[in-house]
Amino acid sequence: MTQFDFNKTTSREGTYSVQYDGTEALFGAKGLEPFWIADMDIETPEAVRDAIKNRLDNGIFGYTMWQNERFYEPVKHWWKTRFNISLNDEDIHYAASVLYTVGEVMRQKTNEGDGVILTTPSYNSFPNLIKGNDRKRVETPLLYNEEKKEYYLNTEEFRSLCSREDVTLYIHCNPHNPTGKVWSKEELLEIKNICQENGVYLISDEIHMDFVRPKEDFVSMVSLLEDDDPVLVTTGLGKSFNLASIPHSYYITKDKKITADINTAMGSRYNVNTASSLALAALEAAYTECGEWVDQLNEHIEGNFKLISDYIDEHLADYLSFDIPKSTYLGWISFEKSGLDAQEVHKALVEVGGIAVSPGKLYLDDENNHFRINVASGRTRIEDGLERIRKTFEHLSK
Ligand SMILES: Cc1ncc(COP(=O)(O)O)c(C=O)c1O
Repeated sequence: MTQFDFNKTTSREGTYSVQYDGTEALFGAKGLEPFWIADMDIETPEAVRDAIKNRLDNGIFGYTMWQNERFYEPVKHWWKTRFNISLNDEDIHYAASVLYTVGEVMRQKTNEGDGVILTTPSYNSFPNLIKGNDRKRVETPLLYNEEKKEYYLNTEEFRSLCSREDVTLYIHCNPHNPTGKVWSKEELLEIKNICQENGVYLISDEIHMDFVRPKEDFVSMVSLLEDDDPVLVTTGLGKSFNLASIPHSYYITKDKKITADINTAMGSRYNVNTASSLALAALEAAYTECGEWVDQLNEHIEGNFKLISDYIDEHLADYLSFDIPKSTYLGWISFEKSGLDAQEVHKALVEVGGIAVSPGKLYLDDENNHFRINVASGRTRIEDGLERIRKTFEHLSK
């Protein structure tokens, strides 16, 4: 069996990557080592790159259709072999991006001023979309079970928010960015039922679905869908195969009305209804040839998380607490026990450690005492990041 090398260093110089070239503007300092935005310092698998090259060799990149078996079959194959879910062609739809889809469902299913529920901490683009579409953010903070070391929904509060007249949409994130929570079937069923009982539309953003460890623990909202359910699941290959700059995504729903409305919007309002030919080539190869690559990538990420956890235990136990997440390549690290002021910590991470990690505040972290670190890199980079974090906290504790 091929052993893939996830420790290879590939320069991103000249690629205008947001991770590297966008850091100075965002963090206000030069030369920081970036671990913030969610893409990988790991190359897309060779089979996917070969498929893109083959497509390039054709030389013509005109408007492209996705409604054919070379789109449906790989998607169905992936969902069947990874998650044991059988999909029907008519429930799968290509779309420009996951966030485009979330925004479009919001515009279709809510009115200006309506309340949209988010569990907090929340992926930062959700509040941005709510604000940008003149809707109102309605937050329900996730609770934390110290014993199980797990976040969970405050079901009573969620039910009460859903029952409000002005609340019409809930954006669910599974697996959850930034905490890495993987939702159980019971939790999903309860959420779906509460939404349905209260006429609240449900979007499930499952873009991190391929990073559940072990993969058998992932329960997709798709597995609970029945005909005409007011639920839409959106996902893509951007995270799993590091393809964020090749526009694509797809959504799965049994709600024929929302499908028709999104198709109308993509076709006649925005004119984004054809597919990226390179994305389709990538999808076909990724979903038919790269299951083993994803499995090994998850082992590598688990190894990086273990490294971080051991390092914290050994050197930073007075300041940081960290639970290895069951999913994603994003670590959610708490500095609550350090007793340090959040602003001071974030300033020192930049000015003393020379490291760019995302502050908890960005994710509406209630207590603002976390940072999020992207661990999808080779091991040496992670070690370097850890030394920077150690330098920061040792400086602050003086
Ligand atoms: C939960 C979640 N949804 C969506 C996205 C972005 O998806 P897209 O680039 O397809 O809009 C991200 C990227 O970090 C994410 O973490």
